[in-house]
Amino acid sequence: MGNVNILVGAQWGDEGKGKWIDILAKKAAAVVRFQGGNNAGHTIYVDGEKIVLHHLPTGFLQGDDIVCVMTCGMVVNPGILIEELENISKRANVHQDRFWLSARAHVISPWHVYQDCSAEDKRSTPIGTTRRGIGPTYSDKVARRGLRVGYYIDEAKRNAWIDSMSEEYAEFSRHVEANPKEWDRFHAVAAQIAPFVCDAEARLRELMRDSKKQVLVEGAQGSLLDLDHGTYPFVTSSTTVAGGAFASVGIAPTRVDKVIGITKAYMTRVGEGPFPTELKDEIGSFLCDRGKEYGSTTGRPRRCGWLDLLALRYSIEVNGINDLILNKFDILSGLDEVCLAVAYEHPEQGRITEFPWDYEVLERCKPVLKTFSGWSFDPEQTSSADALPDNAMSYIRFIEEAVSCKISLIGTGVGRNDSIELR
Ligand code: IMP
Repeated sequence: MGNVNILVGAQWGDEGKGKWIDILAKKAAAVVRFQGGNNAGHTIYVDGEKIVLHHLPTGFLQGDDIVCVMTCGMVVNPGILIEELENISKRANVHQDRFWLSARAHVISPWHVYQDCSAEDKRSTPIGTTRRGIGPTYSDKVARRGLRVGYYIDEAKRNAWIDSMSEEYAEFSRHVEANPKEWDRFHAVAAQIAPFVCDAEARLRELMRDSKKQVLVEGAQGSLLDLDHGTYPFVTSSTTVAGGAFASVGIAPTRVDKVIGITKAYMTRVGEGPFPTELKDEIGSFLCDRGKEYGSTTGRPRRCGWLDLLALRYSIEVNGINDLILNKFDILSGLDEVCLAVAYEHPEQGRITEFPWDYEVLERCKPVLKTFSGWSFDPEQTSSADALPDNAMSYIRFIEEAVSCKISLIGTGVGRNDSIELR
């Protein structure tokens, strides 16, 4: 048994990962973010207060001895990171021994944010990105012209990067000249970031030599937004699935104990892209309102729909999820009927039972729904599975059977204690 647990979203993000990471962090020596940047918005409610983290690992809120790590698979906007650190330091101790920022991570500069926004504005079919510069930063990383955090904090190397980009790209040079305030801040915050920058991956491997120390790896976005395995091109620019964690953290796959997947009891999506079970009717609006489905990064309303078992089974297989959490189950309470997609119907291909690789196929799929009679329960009065209505249990058991994975916990509210154990 290894000492690494990985938690990933099994949908298009926004599954409520923040709450569960926060709970699981209690037992961890380190909580590690391995991909994405401030496109993420992990929300935690502590003593009734809502806290949203964008770059920072969620481990900050569960005790000062938990190390929080941002590894090389991440992209980092230094100005925003500093704001987040200032905010979190009101609630938690932030110091070099507990916050490690990888020198290998890549920097999101004002240029990357500008590029993301202008690409979105020009696209005939926008992706609906968070406009945080994520895609352009990963593109530059892969093109080997990116700026790593370790070089960013070194003034001479930072300036050399700006000079070489300016020489190569006239538009970059114009952007630097036309936006002095943004670039001044970009330079100014480097010194504030510097104390935390280190060989985070090496420090983490050292920590893991003690097999009693558990590491919790925190996925951001969701499996269906994975650059390769998601609904390309309507995806984010990083590897969001569990396998990516090993490359991005620099740890061996043999270290893994559990892969924990989070799915909501229904489905949401922000931004564009196919979504076969989307409900554009009053039930969709009900799920959006009751579930407070508004982006924690951008404030955009999320598209809502029924849980899609083809997508969930796919995520479970791609990630190797062996522990499933069914989140926001309370939101379905009170509906007359609740549905699940058990297959798709495609105009040319007929019945489809596996999640297709091609978004153009998925776009034309209509869900084949199984309908369940609804149920009601008061989450505040329901603390065990025995107290759940029979209809609710039939829905849960049907999901487990269809995706061949046990559900260990269900989420029944935003608070740390709002959950029911299933086994
Ligand atoms: P990007 O990550 O900003 O490039 O956006 C690409 C796609 O991923 C868009 O559809 C975004 O709405 C979506 N996305 C990015 N981050 C998140 C997230 O944390 N939750 C949900 N969707 C996200």
